[in-house]
Amino acid sequence: MATVGIIGLGYVGLPLAVAFAQADCEIIAVDTDPRKVEAVAAGESYIEDVPTELLREVSGRIAASTRYARLAEAQAVLICVPTPLTHNREPDLGPLIEATRALAAVLAPEQLIVVESTTYPGTTRERVAPLLEESGLAAGRDFHLAFSSERVDPGRSDFTLRNTPKVLGGLTSACAERAEALYGLVCEHLVRVSSPEAAELAKLLENIFRSVNIALVNELALLTDRMGIDIWEVVEAAATKPYGFMRFDPGPGMGGHCLPVDPFYLSWRAREFDLSTEFIELAGKVNQWMPYHCVSKVQRALNDAGRSVKGARIAVLGVSYKPGIGDVRESPALKIITLLKEQGAEVRYHDPHVPTLVDFALQSAPLEEVLADADLALIVTAHPSVDHDLIARRARLVVDLRGPTRRSGVANIVRL
Ligand SMILES: NC(=O)c1ccc[n+]([C@@H]2O[C@H](COP(=O)([O-])OP(=O)(O)OC[C@H]3O[C@@H](n4cnc5c(N)ncnc54)[C@H](O)[C@@H]3O)[C@@H](O)[C@H]2O)c1
Repeated sequence: MATVGIIGLGYVGLPLAVAFAQADCEIIAVDTDPRKVEAVAAGESYIEDVPTELLREVSGRIAASTRYARLAEAQAVLICVPTPLTHNREPDLGPLIEATRALAAVLAPEQLIVVESTTYPGTTRERVAPLLEESGLAAGRDFHLAFSSERVDPGRSDFTLRNTPKVLGGLTSACAERAEALYGLVCEHLVRVSSPEAAELAKLLENIFRSVNIALVNELALLTDRMGIDIWEVVEAAATKPYGFMRFDPGPGMGGHCLPVDPFYLSWRAREFDLSTEFIELAGKVNQWMPYHCVSKVQRALNDAGRSVKGARIAVLGVSYKPGIGDVRESPALKIITLLKEQGAEVRYHDPHVPTLVDFALQSAPLEEVLADADLALIVTAHPSVDHDLIARRARLVVDLRGPTRRSGVANIVRL
């Protein structure tokens, strides 16, 4: 069985490490964050999709470290480090370059290296390959190189690594064959494309598709707000069409590590080719505007009740970026809380998945407690475990940005 190296033990890397360990592979796992390395070594999971019991079952096959040296023993190494944006919203390949350089220092002949991090087309060939070749080994000849992005959807159990088709593209056909043999251990369906660039762009297309469609329905929500039409009713009606329509719901904006970030990797790259990717920019603009629109809805709801935002006690319900998980990266709730506090609101929050918001020095309080003294309850993320009917009945005033109170039958609710 193979020895598989994993660089970056986050939302992508840890589930991959566990999946390969379940397939009887030995895992050499590397992360620069010693807390993650210690947690993995202790069999303590910090990723909701990886239950601690499951990690413990396979932890004997996972050797975690902050050091790269042992990666030389692996037959394959998967790079799963973050690909964020800089402050100027340009690709920040810093972690990927740092990881690649460190890997180059221990690269061994015949190894397969796969980039899993989402990035712009050309990264694997133009940025990763030359750095690895500083080892003196040639890509496609002395070692194999491929790109295959993860499609994990945190919190989802119906589609997993095993039954979600995995797209991969190799530098050469031998590289792609090696990648197919590796991923065949943990994935039922592999989709081979002709190059790393096609695989890199396929991943971006998936995320841009979501971003653009979310922006489209959000723009309609801005319009229906002025026209006095219920956007949820419109979306539900349109979604009854059995073909040619895919449902996207409006909301307070996009969050997570992918949708608010990845599309801009392509728009940045496109500028090198004298092309401005208008859909991507426009979708980003609309989605980034949504938290401001949501705060203006809060203002209006309080105004109609004879109150101002200043001094109002606002209970924010759900602060992670999507239901059922505790990830707050780029969550629109953070922007909304910032804007409300700037206007003098007293903000508390309830989120069963997010015990603390360190940046705001806030801790999640029990639902009944936050509702009891709130002037307004603001539903930002509708976790399935939260009783939204109770919120509708108990809160003095509700602003619902996600629609779970639609069928509550309670009148005093303002919706997006
Ligand atoms: N989270 C998702 O749902 C998802 C889905 C598909 C693709 N992706 C992509 O996968 C990549 C990783 O995302 P993630 O959500 O797992 O990120 P993450 O932040 O959860 O995990 C990345 C890990 O890499 C570690 N790291 C950073 N620099 C390192 C280095 N030089 N050497 C070793 N470790 C290093 C970090 O400490 C962290 O633990 C990104 O490119 C992301 O766009 C994420």
